[in-house]
Amino acid sequence: MHISQRAQAITPFLAMEFGKRAALLEATGREVIRLNIGEPDFGAPPAVIAAMRAQMDGRAQAYTDALGLPALRAAIAGFYATVHGVTIDPAQVVVTAGASAALLLVAAALVDPGDRVLVADPSYPCNRHFLAGFGADVALVPTTAASRFQLDLPAVQQHWNGETRGVLIATPSNPTGTTVPPAELAALCDWVALQGAWRVVDEIYLNLADPLADGRPMPTILAHDAGAVVINSFSKTFGMTGWRLGWCVAPPALVPALERLAQNYYICPSAPAQQAALACFTPETLALCAERQQELRARRTIVLEGLAAIGLPVPVVPDGAFYVYFDIRGTGSNAVQFCERALQEAGVALTPGADFGVCSADHHVRLSYASSRDNLREGLHRLEQLLQSG
Ligand SMILES: Cc1ncc(COP(=O)(O)O)c(C=O)c1O
Repeated sequence: MHISQRAQAITPFLAMEFGKRAALLEATGREVIRLNIGEPDFGAPPAVIAAMRAQMDGRAQAYTDALGLPALRAAIAGFYATVHGVTIDPAQVVVTAGASAALLLVAAALVDPGDRVLVADPSYPCNRHFLAGFGADVALVPTTAASRFQLDLPAVQQHWNGETRGVLIATPSNPTGTTVPPAELAALCDWVALQGAWRVVDEIYLNLADPLADGRPMPTILAHDAGAVVINSFSKTFGMTGWRLGWCVAPPALVPALERLAQNYYICPSAPAQQAALACFTPETLALCAERQQELRARRTIVLEGLAAIGLPVPVVPDGAFYVYFDIRGTGSNAVQFCERALQEAGVALTPGADFGVCSADHHVRLSYASSRDNLREGLHRLEQLLQSG
C-alpha cells in the first residue's frame, strides 16, 4: 500500500513509545514507574466527573457547534477575566478536541507550503509536526540553559529571514518546565508583530506556572498582545487528558477560517465532555486545581533534591508544568541508552531528549513529576541503584 511521504517522514512520539514498552514490560509482571508521560495522576475534578455522569442518562448526544458550546466558550472567556483580568469576547474562543486539535486547526489556518516558522529546540515535538504537516519549513532554533531553553528576541532576530511567517512558543515549556519571562515574551511578540508575522503561544501549562514575585498569576500573552493566537487545554490544568478537550483564543479575523476547518476536520469536540467541562470553572473546582498545583510544586522539590543527590544535574530549575530536563553526560551513556537502561534494568520509564529536538537531545532526559510522591521516590531510588551498578 502506498503510504504518503508525510506519514513516512513523521517520527514517533518517543514519550508514547516508551509508554508502550512500559506496558509490554508490565504485561510480563514487572512493575514500572512511569515518569515518561505528561499526564497528571489526579484525574478530572470530582464535580466534572459528576457532571459527566449526569450527561449519561440516555439523552442523545448531538453534535454541538463546530466552535463549541456557547456556554463553554463564555465560561472560558470568563476564566481569562477572573484569573488574568483580560477581557476576551467569547466569539474568539474555539473549543477543540484537546490542544492538539487547536494546533491542527491553527496550523491549517496559518501555514502555506514553504512558510518558514521558528520553533525552539528543545520543544514539544507534535507542535512542529503539525506545522510541517501543512508544508511549513520549520526552523528549530537552538537554545541553551542561558535562555532557559526558550526562544528569546536575539535568537529570533538571528534566525529571521524573508520567508519567515511566524513563531510558535510554548511557555512554560515541555520538556523543560521553564517559562519565557513575561517582559521578554512581550518584546519578542512585539517585534514579530512588527514584521507582520503571526505569534502562536501554547499556554497549555500556563495555569501550572509559578506565580510572579508579587503573587499575581503568570500572565497570558493576551494581556499584552491581543493579536496572538493562544492555545490551551483541559488536559493538564484540570487533569483531563483522556477527555480530549482544549481551546484556542484567536483574533476575530481568524475565527471563521478555524470554524470551517473544524466543521470539516472533525465536526465538533465531544458533546458530553464539553457539557461536563462547564463544571471546571466554578470557584470550588478552581480551588481544587490550586491545591493540586501546590502538590505538584512539592513533587518538584522531591525530584530536584533527589536528582541532585544522585548526581544528575538539572541545568535550569523549572518554574512551571511538571517536567524536569536533566543532564546525563556524567553517566557515560547517551540519552536513548540511558532511557533504555532505566526502563529495562530499573523499571523506570523516562523520555529521551531526542523527542524534543537535536541540539541538547543526546545528553538530556525528561522526567515528568505528575506522578505520586511515592512513585517519584521509588523512581529516584531505582535510578540511584542503576547508576551505582555502573
Ligand atoms: C506543549 C504541549 N502542547 C500541546 C499538548 C497537547 O495536549 P492535549 O492535546 O492533550 O490538550 C501537549 C501535551 O503534552 C503539550 O505538552
